[in-house]
Amino acid sequence: MPENILIAIAWPYANAEIHVGNITGSHLPGDIVARYHRLKGNKVLMVSGTDSHGTPVTLAADKEGKPVEEVYKKYHNGFLELFQGFGITYDLFTTTHTENHFKVSQAIFLALMRNGYLFKQTSKQWYSPAAKRFLPDRYVEGTCYLCGFEGARSDQCDNCGNVLEPEKLLNPRAKTGDGALELRETEHFYLDLSKLEPEVKKFLKERAAHMRETVLGESLGKIEAEGLKPRPITRDLDWGIPVPVDEPGWEGKKLYVWFEAVIGYLSAAIEWAQVSGQKDAWREWWANPRARQFYFIGKDNIFFHTSLWPAQLMGAGSAFMQIFAGEETPLTLPFDVPANQFMNLEGKKISGSRNWAVWGRDALTRYDADALRYYLTVNMPEAKDSDWDWAEFVARNNNELVATWGNLANRMLSFAYKHWEGHVPAVDENALRPADLELLAAIENGFHTVGAEYEAVHLRSAVAETMKLATAVNQYLDLNAPWSAVKTDKDSAALTVFTALKAIDSLKVLFSPVLPFTAEKLHTFLGYETPLFGEQYIEEIHDALGTHNGLRYRPVEGVQWKPSQLKPGQKLKQPSPLFKKLDESIVEEERARLGK
Ligand code: MF3
Ligand code: ZN
Repeated sequence: MPENILIAIAWPYANAEIHVGNITGSHLPGDIVARYHRLKGNKVLMVSGTDSHGTPVTLAADKEGKPVEEVYKKYHNGFLELFQGFGITYDLFTTTHTENHFKVSQAIFLALMRNGYLFKQTSKQWYSPAAKRFLPDRYVEGTCYLCGFEGARSDQCDNCGNVLEPEKLLNPRAKTGDGALELRETEHFYLDLSKLEPEVKKFLKERAAHMRETVLGESLGKIEAEGLKPRPITRDLDWGIPVPVDEPGWEGKKLYVWFEAVIGYLSAAIEWAQVSGQKDAWREWWANPRARQFYFIGKDNIFFHTSLWPAQLMGAGSAFMQIFAGEETPLTLPFDVPANQFMNLEGKKISGSRNWAVWGRDALTRYDADALRYYLTVNMPEAKDSDWDWAEFVARNNNELVATWGNLANRMLSFAYKHWEGHVPAVDENALRPADLELLAAIENGFHTVGAEYEAVHLRSAVAETMKLATAVNQYLDLNAPWSAVKTDKDSAALTVFTALKAIDSLKVLFSPVLPFTAEKLHTFLGYETPLFGEQYIEEIHDALGTHNGLRYRPVEGVQWKPSQLKPGQKLKQPSPLFKKLDESIVEEERARLGK
């Protein structure tokens, strides 16, 4: 029975381009796991979109002096280009600025209200008398009252990672230079997280066995120490999703960006179902207790995904389904939240504003996607922060990707192509020798061992394990040296080449979630007609809020996660090298670009 797997990836804010830290943090691991499950024949739905609301985005628009609408679309379209180039295969990458997302978010809000989890409360918020408006969240910076960091945003501190109560911020100042600030009273809706605390704890404990230590510490550990407090889920802002209440005074307020952005995982599934012409198909991932949901995020997003979002789902649950779908079923809860730590760059924290970053789209103009994907996977910050180092990028590309794997594939394919007239040697498979069978058995076992690593989202180990198997094939070839045997004993050389090609064919599958472009190329060289993976394309989607471009994916059917099916005598295609050796000189060139 195929499983339903939801791959949910953090929605990037439409306020900056995406850099390698974001890619290795969430988009790439999500894509690798999605591709693995697709190869297994599971039903994967991979969704995300542009986080178009909230103060990060309005501040970017202020800074660029352009309408928010224009700014969010500019970044959104850049994201789509990047994901296509990098092969990040979203079934739907949309935006939070759609009528569908507004409706779903408002329905979750109303369901929480109906179930008694919302209350109204007046609190003091930062107000600028000069600008005559409240300045929520990132509009105000100051000193963190928890750790003393001076550059804290009023809603979250990047230094200690805590979510903050804005009115407690010390030495507040307006990002917009709107003069002195004062605290003024304003009314907002609060989500009563304290009421949901026992359920959230139970939810986390049930998942403790397979969740990462770092994630549990930040969630269950924190709740046990501090408890869950009610949080305001509306803001005084013009841009965003209207609060769905008819009372006067609420026209100028909007849903808090974090409250609604996480709802995007659900609304994007609903939108995907609509645009795919299977209106109800989203329920397979959302109203199905057996569906497994994986959330790929960075460590700064943990609270929102392990506490807030599950609380929203539990609190709204069947009331949402009643409002939205006319039936009372609970909503499916997250299965795992394999959050990553951060990637630094050449020993320093990545900073977009100081251009201390390797930007995804820019990197793709000089390097192949698979070379970047490889380095970002072997260096993924799964358990602790990692570092992008240009010298290491070159070394690992040249010594591992090119020398161990690429040369193996290229050498054997060219050799077979030349000496067996463009065909896999037509050997009798019963004639395979013990050493041949032993190698093939070791590779076949990789489908279990490497598979288990992908399954558990241990992606560094998955690649390391596969690379070890590639080394084993190289050792086998050193011993059997078909290059000399071909002159003296072509039959024995044929057995060796057949065995090696079969091993390479299997390794292609084991590597393919990480290296999809070159795996696909190799797949054609080996003579297969149908591709391993589906196709990405952009689709214009229309709704009442206008038109947006969605990134889409057309899957291919069938189970591909299985040992080589290569047939003796199979026709090959003219091979060419899969990877490029990089010149040492790029290290200095790339370092010189940083910080300018
Ligand atoms: N936009 C947020 C960020 O870049 C992430 C939002 S994830 C979501 O940090 F699910 F909440 F959308
Ligand atoms: Zn702090």
